[in-house]
Amino acid sequence: MAVIKEGTAAHINGQRIDVAPGETLLQAALRQGIAFPNRCRVGACGTCKCRLAEGQVRALTPPGYLLDDDQIKRGYILACQSVPRSDISIEVALGAPAATSATGKIAAPAPEAPREPAGFWDYAKYFGFHLVGLSATVALLAGGGWITAGLLAIVSFYILGDAVSGNDLRTPRYGRPALLTGHLWLALPLVSLISFAAVWGVSAGDPLGFGAWLTSWTGYDVIAAREATTLGHHVSAVILTGLMIGMIGTITAHELMHRTWDKVSLLIGRWLMAFSLDTSFTIEHVYGHHRYVSTTVDPATAPRGRSVYAHIAISTVKSNASAWHIECGRLRRQGLPVWSVHNAVLRGWAMSAVVLALAWAVGGAVGLAFFAACGLMGKALLEVVNYMEHYGIVRDPAAAVQPRHSWNTNRRISSWTLFNLSRHSHHHAQGDVPYQDLKPMADAPMMIGGYLTVMVLTLLPPLWHALMTPRLLAWDRDFADPGERTLAREANAASGIAALVRAANQSSRGQLEASSVSR
Ligand code: FES
Repeated sequence: MAVIKEGTAAHINGQRIDVAPGETLLQAALRQGIAFPNRCRVGACGTCKCRLAEGQVRALTPPGYLLDDDQIKRGYILACQSVPRSDISIEVALGAPAATSATGKIAAPAPEAPREPAGFWDYAKYFGFHLVGLSATVALLAGGGWITAGLLAIVSFYILGDAVSGNDLRTPRYGRPALLTGHLWLALPLVSLISFAAVWGVSAGDPLGFGAWLTSWTGYDVIAAREATTLGHHVSAVILTGLMIGMIGTITAHELMHRTWDKVSLLIGRWLMAFSLDTSFTIEHVYGHHRYVSTTVDPATAPRGRSVYAHIAISTVKSNASAWHIECGRLRRQGLPVWSVHNAVLRGWAMSAVVLALAWAVGGAVGLAFFAACGLMGKALLEVVNYMEHYGIVRDPAAAVQPRHSWNTNRRISSWTLFNLSRHSHHHAQGDVPYQDLKPMADAPMMIGGYLTVMVLTLLPPLWHALMTPRLLAWDRDFADPGERTLAREANAASGIAALVRAANQSSRGQLEASSVSR
């Protein structure tokens, strides 16, 4: 069969559908009403596996993450990661459990409401993170008390802004998505600038003559300000830089690493993760977390009763081990050596080493240690976010991921400046949807507040558990299916939190009484 351009025809068990340019086989099938089996949509679960009987496809992710050599030789592909390059013919068992749409509490398909076209402010609202990043850079360079003031101002902006600005429930139709991708790419120069400013702030000399140039350009003596910066304000600089690496670096990287159809986005996402010394996240998050979210095998899902501090340590160790395990499995399935350039974990470590080497070049040993502390701070922040997004939720690994398996929020400032990461319920239910198209899922389980607000609450475990325990019990009552109620009862019994243990005991007693009555 002659190879023609992308955007062609696919025959699924003999039924013809059109595939638009750049569209995956799964997207085309679902768009045309075919109940194609799917679950994660990010190449992590294997539910959309099918056999390519004729034609050619372009694989967006290495098939070895899920398919072994024999399956690949027999023509198996993942529909969610395959873009047809010619007319194709597919064999698949249709009608298997599918998550063809996502609503708050249930998996039933919802009719798509017509979306109004996006206006100027719909685009502009997503550029706020650049202003936050530039503000942090100015604070770091201004030195002394300005650093601490900048940190407090940014945290206050998020907490107070989310408290007073309400929810953003709009999902307009964006006609120029490239604009919204380009501004994500700007995160890389922005995080580089913030990191340079932070490391310059502890360097002994004036690397690149940056301080002299800035002083002559602005009239503000940044070198004198740096000399006057005390230890306490340097600690603020670590927190502020770590916050920026987490918010501007990691959150943007998270959005980019899901874009398997765009190699530039994937590469920029990996470099952004190098700043928090955590490029393994790009493997574990997509092929591990999205597959196992809200189950006991997911390192990023915190069980009931765990504190955020324990979670940072446990999730860091387990997610790195999981990434290594996933990558080694892929290499083995593809017959490639583990200790080689083919290993994405090793390549990621090399990227982090380059970033650390640059920090050393700018700030010497002190700069290197300072930047490492900032990067680890950014990594810890990621684990705090994982903690609050899925804390205590349960799911049977065999069941499809639904919006109820994430804590969601539609607070306005968080949504705008964190690229709708806050619309986490829809993100996990349909991992291939770009951030601007995520739905608010107003009837999904809701977080206590906006992202920064909840982050601060997690740092106070007694208060966190006091606030979250009623929400978990409400989740068990309002969202869990019968199987999940059993899992939730077990999680409550093991939580070590008195109210949850009591609820587990009451539930067990209720079941016993019900079964003795029925006998
Ligand atoms: S691998 Fe395609 S839906 Fe999960």
